[in-house]
Amino acid sequence: MQRIAIIGTGNISHNHIQGYLEFPDRSQIVALVDIYPEKAEEKKKHYGLVNAKIYSNHQDILNDPSIDVFDICTPPYVHAAISIDALNAGKHVLCEKPMAASLQECDAMINAAKSSGKTLSIIAQNRFTDAFWRLKKVLESNQIGKICHAQVDSFWWRGTWEKEGGGCTLNHAVHHIDAIQWMLGFPTEVVAITTNVSHDNAEVEDLSAAIFKYDTGALTQLTASVVHHGEDQKIVIQGEKARISAPWDKFASIAAPNGFPIEARDTSLENQLEDSYQTIPRLNWTLHTGQIDNFLHALQTGTAPLVDGPQGKRSLELITAIYKSAITRSIVSLPISASDPYYQTGGLVKMAPHFFEKSASVENFANEDAIPLGKDMDKGA
Ligand SMILES: NC(=O)c1ccc[n+]([C@@H]2O[C@H](COP(=O)([O-])OP(=O)(O)OC[C@H]3O[C@@H](n4cnc5c(N)ncnc54)[C@H](O)[C@@H]3O)[C@@H](O)[C@H]2O)c1
Repeated sequence: MQRIAIIGTGNISHNHIQGYLEFPDRSQIVALVDIYPEKAEEKKKHYGLVNAKIYSNHQDILNDPSIDVFDICTPPYVHAAISIDALNAGKHVLCEKPMAASLQECDAMINAAKSSGKTLSIIAQNRFTDAFWRLKKVLESNQIGKICHAQVDSFWWRGTWEKEGGGCTLNHAVHHIDAIQWMLGFPTEVVAITTNVSHDNAEVEDLSAAIFKYDTGALTQLTASVVHHGEDQKIVIQGEKARISAPWDKFASIAAPNGFPIEARDTSLENQLEDSYQTIPRLNWTLHTGQIDNFLHALQTGTAPLVDGPQGKRSLELITAIYKSAITRSIVSLPISASDPYYQTGGLVKMAPHFFEKSASVENFANEDAIPLGKDMDKGA
């Protein structure tokens, strides 16, 4: 039985609490911590968490032997400090995305996990969707040949502004950036442009276009947007022999001797791909609940969780590379070294353009239905 402290009881804590409540034999929420303790009280009442004590400072429970896990749902700028405190105190950590405010902080978290021997996992809940899970499995079957290209569309619509004011590459596309690096591996080069076309009270970008290049020569094109009408998220992977995608689809062309495609398609390969996809079992638990299941399993069995510290860092490294490329108007080589100013805490913020100055902000944002979490694009295929 893992005894859980939820640190930060705002919007996303609902998904964490609901996740743990699905596994009452494996976990129990014993503490709720928030700098606004009334928010913690409210969650305790809402979910009937009779065994949970309320605190206003995570440091008050660091030495409490009745807590095994710090589940961190605070804003990103305190993820590293709280995670490192917890790991050094001998607690396991499940931390929300983005992993931290800088690559330097990510490495400090990874080092604290290593030296403490405790488990660190970072939320990337879209891996735990049937659409991405099954696409990844089909990809691993190597039926589509060498990977040539991927198109990743992370299109959202934001009619109103939020406290982070946009920043769609970091806040929205992070899940697709994680997914594509999970599926295709880590690129060697990144080039990008960011812009703000329709949020004139936001300092940050509302649209970005990036290209990743891999050592195989393959490319990924990624668009992160909060200006598209309708929410449309897509990953399309082109192999030498066929294309596959989430939402699920497959297409296999046949080349004529002169290299042009002929009208007939390679239906035999398409049927094989369809069979592979359909025979991959659906996940028992999806999104945050799926990842919490994976995290609890890792703790029970002493194995690594699917998204460990180094995996969590990779999405932030790609996002940092996108911003660095856009700001410096150059191609960025990966990995980003510790001597790079963009690696260091505060480096990106210092260099980042303010597209517009923010004229208003919301304190203690309360609209708990308004967060885009991503969804399972597998519509019962
Ligand atoms: N995985 C996803 O799809 C997803 C979606 C939304 C948000 N998030 C992430 O979850 C995190 C929280 O986002 P949110 O929307 O819930 O924000 P929120 O502002 O609604 O909640 C954060 C809570 O943390 C509390 N807090 C701040 N500093 C604290 C500290 N030092 N100690 C204890 N409590 C503290 C705040 O009072 C607040 O109640 C962010 O990292 C965000 O990016 C992830």
